[in-house]
Amino acid sequence: MDYGWLMFLFIALLIDCPIASALFVTDISVPEIVDFRDNVTLSCSYDMRGHTLNSVKWYKDHEEFFRYSPLTSPIYMTFGVQGLQVLDGKYLCNESSCRLDLSLQGAKSTGVYKCEVSGDAPHFKLADKADNMTVAALPQSDPLIESFNSMYRMEEFLSATCSSDYSSLPTRLTWYINGEQPLLGELQPSIDTSIPAHDYVLRRQRLQVHFYLQGQRFFQAGKILELKCVAEIENYPELRRETTLSASLSQFDNFNNQMPLRHANTNSGARQRNSLGGRTSIISAILAVISLLQCLWRPS
Ligand SMILES: *[C@@H]1O[C@H](CO)[C@@H](O)[C@H](O)[C@H]1NC(C)=O
Ligand SMILES: *[C@@H]1O[C@H](CO)[C@@H](O)[C@H](O)[C@H]1NC(C)=O
Ligand SMILES: *[C@@H]1O[C@H](CO)[C@@H](O)[C@H](O)[C@H]1NC(C)=O
Repeated sequence: MDYGWLMFLFIALLIDCPIASALFVTDISVPEIVDFRDNVTLSCSYDMRGHTLNSVKWYKDHEEFFRYSPLTSPIYMTFGVQGLQVLDGKYLCNESSCRLDLSLQGAKSTGVYKCEVSGDAPHFKLADKADNMTVAALPQSDPLIESFNSMYRMEEFLSATCSSDYSSLPTRLTWYINGEQPLLGELQPSIDTSIPAHDYVLRRQRLQVHFYLQGQRFFQAGKILELKCVAEIENYPELRRETTLSASLSQFDNFNNQMPLRHANTNSGARQRNSLGGRTSIISAILAVISLLQCLWRPS
């Protein structure tokens, strides 16, 4: 029996196995949504499984814009592609990972970004991973609450307006009054304003809330009235922004009088009248009960 052949096969397998096995792109990091004014960092990591790294290529919508090829010179190359620019010197790649920084050019920067890794000869194994990036004009500030005062009284009418910042993605505004959404009748139809800018149509929402300060909502909240406006963008919960303002709320309440100072005199008068009125009504109630009893006990 010729063991030499078997030995040769065995060694050939040992050598060949790691080379023939697949290599992997283990992770890709592409922001899902970014503002067109921001620079972004893309990165990709890979497991060569014993292969030598031949190149890492980055594509936007199948067009190559960056290449790292450690076995040739120059090691790094960039290619002009519509919608992005690789920032000078802002890239670093090695045998296990590759990252680079880009500046963007608005809506045309939106696309599929792919990292492709290739092994060396003779197999030139390929592996890739891709992710979508949406480049939008995102709100740069929290929603703005207007015409809200720092002090209100019960039974008063309150009206306030919330405006979202301009954005290329539709924004939805929601009001909360002491943590609860207003009733339907307390909201005006929202007003949508749009302007063209930076190759986008930017839209802004305005939503007015108006209601009487009365009822359970305010008694439970004590002396504070809190208005919150939340601006949300569909499908991107991480872009939620909110503004909260609070005001002191004076009650027309005999026991916890918190009237503003300038009303102090008139109010103490009112209190006296109120307590007098209270006494009168107790007396009339007693009288009513007595006369009712008289009716019931009147001999027939
Ligand atoms: C993006 O990077 C460029 C070049 O480094 C820099 O000049 C610019 O200020 C950066 N922009 C932002 C928004 O960070
Ligand atoms: C490759 O670069 C990353 C940083 O980009 C570093 O964390 C890692 O240790 C490097 N790996 C090797 C094998 O040099
Ligand atoms: C990118 O988005 C498109 C649709 O918008 C989807 O069909 C595709 O699967 C996405 N690609 C990746 C890599 O997520």
